[in-house]
Amino acid sequence: MRKNVKNNVSWVGKVDWELQKFHGDEYSTHKGSTYNSYLVEEEKTVLIDTVWEPFAKEYVENLMKEIDLNKIDYIIVNHGEVDHSGALPELMKHIPDTPIYCTKKAVDSLKGQYHKDWNFNVVNTGDKLDIGNGKELIFVEMKMLHWPDSMATYMTEDNILFSNDAFGQHYATEMLFNDLVDQCDLYQEAIKYFANILTPFNAILRKKLDEVISLNLPIDIIATSHGVIWRDNPMQIVEKYVEWAKDYQENQITIIYDTMWNGTKELAERIAEGIAIEDKEVVVKIFNLAKSDMNDLITEVFKSKTVAVGSPTIGSSVLHSIAGFIHYVKSMKFKNKKAAGFGCYGWSGESPSVINERMKEAGFEIIGEGLRNKWNPDKDSKEAAVQFGREIAKG
Ligand code: FEO
Repeated sequence: MRKNVKNNVSWVGKVDWELQKFHGDEYSTHKGSTYNSYLVEEEKTVLIDTVWEPFAKEYVENLMKEIDLNKIDYIIVNHGEVDHSGALPELMKHIPDTPIYCTKKAVDSLKGQYHKDWNFNVVNTGDKLDIGNGKELIFVEMKMLHWPDSMATYMTEDNILFSNDAFGQHYATEMLFNDLVDQCDLYQEAIKYFANILTPFNAILRKKLDEVISLNLPIDIIATSHGVIWRDNPMQIVEKYVEWAKDYQENQITIIYDTMWNGTKELAERIAEGIAIEDKEVVVKIFNLAKSDMNDLITEVFKSKTVAVGSPTIGSSVLHSIAGFIHYVKSMKFKNKKAAGFGCYGWSGESPSVINERMKEAGFEIIGEGLRNKWNPDKDSKEAAVQFGREIAKG
């Protein structure tokens, strides 16, 4: 079922209410997602992006109820990832010769995934496509945001930026626009999306945002490929991206630990106590990694100025959950953040130094030598953990 976006532009995508995991099992989608596809019906008829493969037949059947597929003059593929291109093979069975406009890298990704030699037309930044009624589509390459093939498409006169993944959120809703949904939910899903997907590309993103802003294009609507369309003050999300891309942090210290017999948990709570004693303003949060969602934790790390990481020593190292967490944190390429390791042990006690070493490799500045505690914390070692928290708060 189509929904009107503006004038002759309609949404023809799919709302995926049941989606719990995305990118395989790598990204949690507590609130589902949407795959936004757009139909532009000017003198020329244009389809911008499609939907994920499991919904391909449904998508094409729905599209056929809206228009004669043979009337589609152009298909725009802003990004070749399967959640947006997955319905192309089904669609192209019906209209195999329809020209597809995309970047050179998208030809590579589409051929690599679908092994089809469709009618590809390579576009570069600044290239235009006349769609009649005095309107044009202008293409802007968005290399590495977040794939080499990514691009955005700007529609003149209606002033719509079809931004694909950029500015998106994994957020299922039947309400099409940003002003119609719960603002807290929207903010949370937008920042989680940025923290987990775009953070590694911050430097590229900063340049691209400057470039797009300097074009001074009037933007009335940002039509993303996931979640809601930004029509109410669309530049609010651009401004947030500018802020988030500058090695973002809030006045927050996050303590993330795993534990075997609650000794390291006890340390975590005393460290939090020490931080709160030392700094009455800082937000302190504690998470048991084994009981938390990895992507939500990455969002908390993104917001933090300091992260204390705790693990008991096992096998002269750390628990596998903590090792995996630090591996993920490293891939995010965070900058301008500090870390401190801590943990209980029975006989060798390597975990704090292992944590510090690996967090340093992940780009964090390390505070102190780490807190090692033999066996379960007693009164003195609980006090030592409080002191350690105070040192962390002082940075
Ligand atoms: Fe990079 Fe939504 O795909």
